[in-house]
Parts: sequence; C-alpha cells; structure tokens
Amino acid sequence: MKLTLDLVAGARPNLMKLAPVVRALVAQDRLAFRIVHTGQHYDPSMTDVFFQELGIPAPDVHLDVGSGSHGAQTARILERYEARLLTDPPRATVVFGDVNSTVACALAAVKLGVGVVHVEAGLRSLDRSMPEEINRLLTDAIADLLLVSEPSGLEHLEREGIAADKVRLVGNVMIDTLLQRLPAARARRATRPLGLEGRPYGFVTLHRPSNVDDPATLGRLLDLLDELSSRLPLVFPVHPRTLASAHRAGLEPRLAPGNPRLVCLGPTPYLETLSLVAEASLVLTDSGGLQEETSVLHVPCLTLRENTERPVTVSRGTSRLVGNDPARIRGAFTDVLEGRWPPGGDIPLWDGRAGARVAGAIADWLGA
Ligand code: UD1
Repeated sequence: MKLTLDLVAGARPNLMKLAPVVRALVAQDRLAFRIVHTGQHYDPSMTDVFFQELGIPAPDVHLDVGSGSHGAQTARILERYEARLLTDPPRATVVFGDVNSTVACALAAVKLGVGVVHVEAGLRSLDRSMPEEINRLLTDAIADLLLVSEPSGLEHLEREGIAADKVRLVGNVMIDTLLQRLPAARARRATRPLGLEGRPYGFVTLHRPSNVDDPATLGRLLDLLDELSSRLPLVFPVHPRTLASAHRAGLEPRLAPGNPRLVCLGPTPYLETLSLVAEASLVLTDSGGLQEETSVLHVPCLTLRENTERPVTVSRGTSRLVGNDPARIRGAFTDVLEGRWPPGGDIPLWDGRAGARVAGAIADWLGA
C-alpha cells in the first residue's frame, strides 16, 4: 500500500504550483495523493478554469470555506481540515505558497502529528504588514520538510534556526507549469480579440491590499494607468479584490470594459494570461508569481511594491521594485520604452523539473 499525501490548494496561484507536483507523483508512482481544495477562491473563473487548463484531477475534498476576514477564513479552514484529518489522515500534508489556506492546513496537520511539507519555503519580504509574510513565517516554523525555490530561502531559514536537514533547494514549480504550457499559450493568440495582435502593449495586475484597499492609493494608481495607457495600451485583468475595492470607492466606472487604451478584463484563465504576458512589452504588477514568470520570459517587470520575497527576480531576472509612487513608476516605464532595462539571465533550478524534485524529495523523506 502506498503512503498517501494530501495536496492542499486554496487560492488561484496554488494551482500552478500543485499541477507539476501532481504530474511528477503520478510519473514516479511512489506515493498516492488526494487533492484538498479549501475553497478560499471559489469563483469558477478563479478555480475551475485552472483545474481544466492545467489538467489537475478534480479535488477529492472540498472544504468550501469562501471569503472572510483573515481570522474567520483561516479559522474556518483550520476547523474543517482538522475534521477531515481526524476521520482520514494522510501520511503527510503538502502546502504551497503563502496564502491563508497554506498556514491553516499546516497548523491543523502538525497538531495532529501529520507531517507537513511546505513547497516554496523560505521566501521572506521582511515586511510583517503583509499577510503573506506572517503565513510564510508560521508555516516554515512548523513544517517538517521545507522545499525552497531560490537561494535566498536557504539563508532565511538558516537565520531563523531551521535545521538544515529539513531543507532542500528544489527550484520553482510554477516555472514548470509555465514552460510546459507556453506553446499552448502562444497558440491562443490572446491579443487578437483585444485588437492588439502584433502591436506593443503592457500588461497590468494589482491585488495587494497595500495597493488596492485604500481608495486614495487605488485612485492614484488608476489615474497613473490612465496616463500611461496614452503612451502604450495596457491590458488589465481586474482581480475580484480590486474590483470590490473600486466599487466601494466609487471608482468602478474607471474599470469599465470597452476602453481601447486601458483594456479591463475579468479574471483571466491561465493560458490567456500567459499568452498576454509572453507577448507584452512590459508588465506592471504587485503579484509574486508574475515577478517570476516575467523573469523567465525576459519581459521587463515593474513591481509595484517596496520589497519582494523573491529577490532573485531583481538580482538575476527582469523585475525592478518601483513602489506605488507615480513618479517612480513613470520613470521606470520610460526606461523600458527607451530600452534601458536588463534582459535578465537564467535562474538556477528554474528549469521545468522542479516538480520531479519535489515529488522525489517527499518520497525519499518518507522512505517510500
Ligand atoms: C489571496 C492571497 C494572496 C494571493 C491571492 C491571489 C491570502 C492572505 N492572500 O489574496 O496571497 O496573492 O490570493 O489571487 O491568502 N473573491 C471573489 N471570488 C473568489 C475569491 C475572492 O470575489 O473566488 C473576492 C472577495 O471579495 C474576497 C476578496 O476577493 O473577499 C479577497 O479574497 P481572499 O482570498 O481573501 O484574498 P486575495 O486578495 O484573493
């Protein structure tokens, strides 16, 4: 009988990380697994579409937690996953990234003596006002096996006193998905229905609380996007958090569809997004995943944050931190348009084989 893992997904970016691990577990055939979907993200456009496009088997377990305050959402996941663990415990629980589902399921598991594996361990922004930073710190403090995507993760874990024998540098699983799906994504030609095929354009995403929750900050950023879009059309898939915040602030009309310069879309499927990012002249974003994806695609990335937990994307990739001050963003935008931007080099172990290293490390650790 093979040992069984629970693989936990909750929010959209978890799915791009989980998919290559599922593929490798199937190929290596050393461990069985079940997929647990917490329901942190629940709109079909934020979940179902990604399962289909990435070929992930349907979840075995749905916790259906939905949205809520951090405390309420995390508590609901903790309670419901614990109930599941009490009736049918796996040999280990594998959590991904830094979302509320990550920390909640890790905590439920460790308290019941179920091994915890953290994929994407060790990343630190050193900014404790970010909810994700708290999730990272807590998850790594209780994980039994910590699988790291970039060298900075090893340094942070060592500094925090995590025993080195629990830690492995395995590379970036999200890049496995990118490299595997890139040909299919390019074949989508997602620019065509937008009237942008063969034309230069930029791609924008915004969803961090620090950029979108405060109406004044969001209003200032939308003014800036409007201005920049007169120099380069911008495609902007609007995250539900951003739309909800714009609605509360009376800014929703600014995100209306039909604007040919600032082309606002709803949440966009993976292949369409990848197609749009791969062809873009530049990306403006506060997403962690996009800093990594643009680095591999050699697309200039203006990261609208003051810090990053993914410093390799700045030191070796194409990302530059520009905060949310309009003058700074405008200056960087001009640098890209005038060709002053590093092309970015290769990043070690971001090679399309991280999923196999993750699956192998877990099986070795369990003696499977
Ligand atoms: C979460 C993660 C963030 C990640 C992001 C990717 C945490 C703390 N944050 O942020 O790290 O980068 O996912 O998308 O876990 N909503 C919907 N439909 C959905 C899901 C959410 O409309 O399917 C709306 C709701 O208004 C909800 C809001 O988005 O209140 C925020 O959702 P939530 O899951 O709390 O955080 P994200 O901002 O998506």
